[in-house]
Amino acid sequence: MEITLVILKPSAVQRGIMGEVISRFEKKGIQIVGMKMVELTDEILSEHYSHLAEKSFFGRIKDAMRVSPVVVMALKGLDVINVVRKLAGVTNGRDAQPGTIRGDYSMSVQENIIHASDSPQSAEAELKRFFSENEIFNYSHHLLPYLY
Ligand code: PPS
Repeated sequence: MEITLVILKPSAVQRGIMGEVISRFEKKGIQIVGMKMVELTDEILSEHYSHLAEKSFFGRIKDAMRVSPVVVMALKGLDVINVVRKLAGVTNGRDAQPGTIRGDYSMSVQENIIHASDSPQSAEAELKRFFSENEIFNYSHHLLPYLY
């Protein structure tokens, strides 16, 4: 089992589509093991997007993540890091396949609804960045025996 980090960006929060996006994860059979609404600081965003520090849009993407609170989620399942990236679709909403979250809800590379960890290493670092240990829960999910 893996756990991955998803952020529902201001583009999901402000448009009132948080429930629709969360519903996709639930219907897929992914277990939500952590979830909270937070206001991100420039400091935590500088760390989160440190790999983009040299990009021209570094300041813009950080500002865009602060126009409203976001929802951070810890999602658990087999191969869930890859599965969530597939559900998300490619970064630019205009290129993302219909049926994916970005393909269905976004026309933008910045306002692209969710962030999702892209590897086991980044999932581990990102979960630590946004959650303390007692905010990630271990509980039985009645669908699990049927899903796997
Ligand atoms: S991804 O999904 O992380 O693999 O995407 P990547 O292409 O590496 O992009 C990383 C994040 O940068 C954002 N991005 C941009 N924002 C504003 N303007 C431009 N041109 C742009 N290009 C990429 C993109 O939304 C990704 O955000 P996260 O939060 O990582 O999904």
